[in-house]
Amino acid sequence: MTKIGIIGTGFLGRAVAIRLLNTGHEVTVYNRTAKKAESLREFGAEVASSPKDVARACDLVITVVKDAKAVEEVAFGKDGIVEGRHDGLVVAEMSTINPISSRKIAQKFSENGITMIDTPVMGGPNLVEKGEVVVMIGGDKKVYEKYKKVFDFIGNKHFHLGDNGSGHAMKLVMNIQIAILALGLSEGITLARAASLNPETFLEILNSTYFKTGMSVNKGPKMIKGNFEPTFSLKMMKKDLDTISEAAKQLGISLPVSSLANRIYQDAESSGFADIDYTGILAFIDKMSGLKKN
Ligand SMILES: NC(=O)c1ccc[n+]([C@@H]2O[C@H](COP(=O)([O-])OP(=O)(O)OC[C@H]3O[C@@H](n4cnc5c(N)ncnc54)[C@H](OP(=O)(O)O)[C@@H]3O)[C@@H](O)[C@H]2O)c1
Repeated sequence: MTKIGIIGTGFLGRAVAIRLLNTGHEVTVYNRTAKKAESLREFGAEVASSPKDVARACDLVITVVKDAKAVEEVAFGKDGIVEGRHDGLVVAEMSTINPISSRKIAQKFSENGITMIDTPVMGGPNLVEKGEVVVMIGGDKKVYEKYKKVFDFIGNKHFHLGDNGSGHAMKLVMNIQIAILALGLSEGITLARAASLNPETFLEILNSTYFKTGMSVNKGPKMIKGNFEPTFSLKMMKKDLDTISEAAKQLGISLPVSSLANRIYQDAESSGFADIDYTGILAFIDKMSGLKKN
């Protein structure tokens, strides 16, 4: 059986670890803040004290950290993955990062005899736990196919999109949708409240139409109740919008709606909403509108 390593056990990495452990895999985890990795022992995980030790112990190492800088640190920093390299080691990079950084990181891994594939996912911890995320793959297709059975336990759809960077590029395309859908839903709820309409009726109507989304069905009711328990934090959404802006600049294009969204999430982050769920952008918009005191 494939020995799997997971580096980064935040919201997403933790869910991936639990899903793979619950489906009978051998999993070794590492997290910069050790207690988050330690808490996975009760699910059967081995806990390593460095990315190097994870790499030594595993065939396939999944990295799920904040951004490209964090990937570089766990890969090439002190006691990083490359220090634990061995024949056949594969890294599956699942963080949301810029495709240009992705290609550079893959190249640097390759110079160290390690193959990296992009494996970012659409869907959060709740869907990982059910094995229902969508995996967007970039890089060597044969290498991915060798480990596809592992990803079948996490995701129910897989798209191989091309060379390194293409999986991460598609993930940015997807996250534009998430950021803007959350804003549209929030402004709808805020306007409904201000107009003395029942926001639940707004959702009921929306969800009876062609325009409903998974977000309006699943997150909408929680948003109305003010339940912003995070599975994907607002500051992480803002980080992704920064990555989208950076990619747009490098590609020489303008994404006006994403740029505006970035400014709104930035204001929310610096107004104390950073650590709640990204759908908590509703609480910020309500506050800006004078509807609610935070
Ligand atoms: N949550 C989701 O629904 C979701 C869905 C798809 C993609 N993603 C992407 O997955 C990645 C992880 O997101 P998350 O929601 O799991 O975030 P999170 O809960 O905030 O976890 C972030 C992880 O990155 C680690 N990290 C940050 N900076 C680091 C550094 N310099 N060196 C080493 N480790 C570092 C953190 O370690 P510490 O614990 O030590 O801070 C933690 O393990 C992000 O790129 C995010 O955009 C998330």
